[in-house]
Amino acid sequence: MIIIKSPREIELMAEAGRVVAKVFEEVGPLVKPGVSTLELNDAAEAVIRREGAIPSELGYCGYPASICASVNEVILHGIPSAKKILKDGDIVSLDLCATKNGYVGDACRTYPVGICGERALRMIRIAQECFEAAVALVKPGVHLGDVSHAIEATAAKYGCSVPRDFTGHGIGTSMHEDPYIPCYGKPGTGPILREGMTICIEPMILEHHNAVRIMKDGWTVVAKDGGLTSHYENTIAVTSSGYRILTQL
Ligand code: MF3
Ligand code: CO
Repeated sequence: MIIIKSPREIELMAEAGRVVAKVFEEVGPLVKPGVSTLELNDAAEAVIRREGAIPSELGYCGYPASICASVNEVILHGIPSAKKILKDGDIVSLDLCATKNGYVGDACRTYPVGICGERALRMIRIAQECFEAAVALVKPGVHLGDVSHAIEATAAKYGCSVPRDFTGHGIGTSMHEDPYIPCYGKPGTGPILREGMTICIEPMILEHHNAVRIMKDGWTVVAKDGGLTSHYENTIAVTSSGYRILTQL
């Protein structure tokens, strides 16, 4: 069941989204060679709590940290660790959620570490371009399949692929609500967008083949072929004429 939010609820979600955006503003500049992903986790958690919010990922389905920090071939759910030290040329995605006044904001950015080569920078750009292409279609009456298809088609333009088993999602008082929003789809199919829906569009991009593997920790998802990966996400609200990005300042 897709839950439609009232204008008041959308303002509450925008406040949770603002906290998430604030984390990127403050923690993004800390992404440098020599920093551990645990340090980024702790800095993000401190901002979330200072802003009167809760790190929604901590304890979610048993997840052991406040953010996901996924480096290079890790596409999703990298568990922050003191042992994972970022090095020049890496790319790292920070995927994080904040709950404030009962509503959740969820977003992800992929950052270059130090000086990155064109191969890595291209992955960062492709994830963002996939998001832009998909969100540009959002307005009442549009099928979600159109939005999903735009992600896949944009990735394919660059010879990249998208995972089959991990998707975007509705969001509200829970991190994950209906509908699921795959990164691939058929135009003209799927649920129809309506004003007041709040959704997370999150292109997850694999450099080559779309096969992934979950590591023994039960969380870390990696590209099976070892290629680079990137991820970009915002929480958005469907408005009367289009969309509003909630995870921004
Ligand atoms: N924030 C992720 C998403 O985009 C979910 C992370 S799973 C968690 O949906 F366990 F880390 F919370
Ligand atoms: Co999400």
